[in-house]
Amino acid sequence: MKIKIVALLLAVFAGYSSNAHKENEVKKGILLVTFGTSYPEAQKVFKNIEKKVQQAYPEIPLRWAYTSKIIRKKLAKQGQIINSPAEALAKMGEEGFTHVTVQSLHVIPGEEYENLEKTVNAFQHMPKGVQKLTFGKPLLYSHSDNERLAAVFHNEFENKLSKKSAMVFMGHGTHHQANIYYPGFQYYLSELNKNYLVGTVEGFPELDKVIEKLKAQKIEKVILIPLMSVAGDHAQNDMAGSEEDSWKTILENEGFEVEIILKGMAEYDEVIAIWLNHLKSAFEEL
Ligand code: CO
Repeated sequence: MKIKIVALLLAVFAGYSSNAHKENEVKKGILLVTFGTSYPEAQKVFKNIEKKVQQAYPEIPLRWAYTSKIIRKKLAKQGQIINSPAEALAKMGEEGFTHVTVQSLHVIPGEEYENLEKTVNAFQHMPKGVQKLTFGKPLLYSHSDNERLAAVFHNEFENKLSKKSAMVFMGHGTHHQANIYYPGFQYYLSELNKNYLVGTVEGFPELDKVIEKLKAQKIEKVILIPLMSVAGDHAQNDMAGSEEDSWKTILENEGFEVEIILKGMAEYDEVIAIWLNHLKSAFEEL
């Protein structure tokens, strides 16, 4: 009888300790977070990033989240369910992830990035959830990021420039103080060639400012390209659309010849490498 009780206690204890062991097991994951897009072609471009991350971390499971509620709603109506960062982190906790690096795929540390940072902080030490989270910086954060991105573009597009042709990068722009990254990035591009110009759709500098410069520099041909992760709604419509108020139409009406490059930054491996560099730093902190 006594032996039976001891055996039972041992069995219970063994069960308990193996469960306890399981709970202490480290399970690392990566959550990639972008603003999102409802354009299927642009969505495919996110796969480029995914591929590069998987190559760098073949053992680490990857998850995605979009910060834009409008885009998530739009996609849900079409039957595509994409998580918000909070939903994704809650689910990862349920799946047993203990350590997660959240990588921002935003361009600047603006409002979307700041809100994501708040979400990540709120999830730190969530009971029964992910135990440790680290957060990767957006594309343009430090001096060296700006220098590096400008160099990538210069490598890629230098041969497109001439005395009379300029390249105009269309950034999103924001009321957030991080809008300063757009005129800031302009400085780094100008160091390489004065015919690289940055404009924004919703911030500063506006297209008017860009046109002033194009005229002052006696430019005849403008090459337009989005300074955005993917060529989604803004690139397709505000930049390259045929409506009266698209940048293409406005520039053509001003007498410029316009060429369009409808490629998001995530289509360039060297740009993805900058995000990967930030991911690497954050992952090392896990
Ligand atoms: Co927008």
